Amino acid sequence: MNPQTQRTSATAGANAAVREAAAVTFVLPPLPYAENALEPVISAKTLRIHHGKHHQGYVDTLNQLVAGTPFANRPLKELVLATAGKPEQAALFHNAAQAWNHSFYWRSLSPRGGNVPPLDLKTRIDSIFGDLDSLKEQLGTAATTQFGSGWAWLVLDGAKLRVVKTDNADNPLTAQLKPLLVIDVWEHAYYLDCQNRRADYVKGVIDKLINWEFAAENLDSA
Ligand SMILES: [Fe+2]
Repeated sequence: MNPQTQRTSATAGANAAVREAAAVTFVLPPLPYAENALEPVISAKTLRIHHGKHHQGYVDTLNQLVAGTPFANRPLKELVLATAGKPEQAALFHNAAQAWNHSFYWRSLSPRGGNVPPLDLKTRIDSIFGDLDSLKEQLGTAATTQFGSGWAWLVLDGAKLRVVKTDNADNPLTAQLKPLLVIDVWEHAYYLDCQNRRADYVKGVIDKLINWEFAAENLDSA
């Protein structure tokens, strides 16, 4: 290799390293439990693909989209709010919101979930919904009736708890609602385990996995 080629090669390598470093703005957060921890409701295979392929894909695409733009190095939540409702930023919004939604979803589930909510949250639930079963029913209805891909959420709307559902990548942050927990109802969340039986997945999640402690933490930080 002649000196010119060596210099060119070294420069190209350095530039590639800089590009690579600049591109890795957002990082896939690790799952807060083992891949098989949510079985039998959600299999290890589903979790591996959902987290390692789908969520990773949103993060990778987001990094490509923000590279070299003013959106790089901004907090993810800020990016979601800054791009919502702007058709020219639709791709950025979709991938940023999906990255945020999935990080929130993993924490909305727990191998020890589906139990009784902490007292403060339980008291709020009882005062708004009547009792925990009524909230579960509303959450289940939102999750099973969401047409196509989307999400079912428990949110804080001012001082009031509400159940809402959103389409595709949308999330309640853009409507000035504070998310407390979420259920992913995109087919990739359950199709390997339940095929078209979304209701089975939703029932399993609500009965056995929903992380009320996480919802209570979010309520406390409101
Ligand atoms: Fe998903």
